[in-house]
Amino acid sequence: MFISILLMQIAVILVGELLINAWIGRAFELAPILADRLFVFRMSIALCVLTLSGLTMIIASKRYGDVLESTNEELGREVERQLASGLKKRNALIFGLAKLADYRDTDTGAHLERIGLYARILADELSGTYQEIDHKWTDRLVLASSLHDIGKVGIADAILLKPGRFTPEERTEMEKHALIGADTLLAIRAKLGPDEFIDMGIQIALQHHEKWDGTGYPFNLKGEEISLAARIVALADFYDALTSVRVYKDAMEHSKTMDLIVSLRGTHFAPDVADAFVANEALFNRIRKQMQGIRHGLPELTKLEIAARKYMDDQGNDQNGLKKAA
Ligand SMILES: [Fe+2]
Ligand SMILES: [Fe+2]
Repeated sequence: MFISILLMQIAVILVGELLINAWIGRAFELAPILADRLFVFRMSIALCVLTLSGLTMIIASKRYGDVLESTNEELGREVERQLASGLKKRNALIFGLAKLADYRDTDTGAHLERIGLYARILADELSGTYQEIDHKWTDRLVLASSLHDIGKVGIADAILLKPGRFTPEERTEMEKHALIGADTLLAIRAKLGPDEFIDMGIQIALQHHEKWDGTGYPFNLKGEEISLAARIVALADFYDALTSVRVYKDAMEHSKTMDLIVSLRGTHFAPDVADAFVANEALFNRIRKQMQGIRHGLPELTKLEIAARKYMDDQGNDQNGLKKAA
């Protein structure tokens, strides 16, 4: 662009020079020396004009380049901001959805938050063994772990909350939650297209009750046929379910749960996942105490009321929902 404009200017100057020369030659009878000096003078002016316009173009194109670059950078930042904000909203909605499903048989959804923490500890411990585990994979795992029991929304309360043992029919019904959860997420995938997070959620929902020795459900998958994410979440879920109080059972002690997990190494649980748990059992116990301590410190209704009232206060509403005077 710059070169072609310059060539055009040179061409215009040359044509102009020829025309001026012809006109002067016809109009005036100049001595050769005067004609030569006039020519040099004209050429000097033309050279100055060319140099000045060239410099102007260089400065203008540099400015244009700078403006373009900063606009591109700003646009890039805006796209990143929009993507991050969209992702944050999606993640919050997914966690809310999972929490809603989890409310039916656990303690206000804190089960999901603990499982996320336990899954992160196990993934960090296993990151040296598995290439696919990096911080992005682990972040995905933490959120996707919340979807493991999303299929329980499709199970009747009489079964889900039943104290005591299931009949064979009830057990079959209960086990359907893995397929229902996967089906729900597959419906999202059908609308959304392939997505790493949803795919991991499907694996976890479908396979978190599979066992390393192939005796789990729904498909009796064995060993590494079970996805790594599901192998990790299976242990995190098992530990938290056993050490938590449910309407139909008391909590098991940490040390007993640990012994049980060790005894199930290589049958229920992947050996390396069980080892990762043992290496971090003290951390599991600390998280369990801290997070369950908070839950047991307050009656549930009061805790919910406090959260709701805090929200109303933050929104500038009084306790009756009336707008405060500005
Ligand atoms: Fe489950
Ligand atoms: Fe669970």
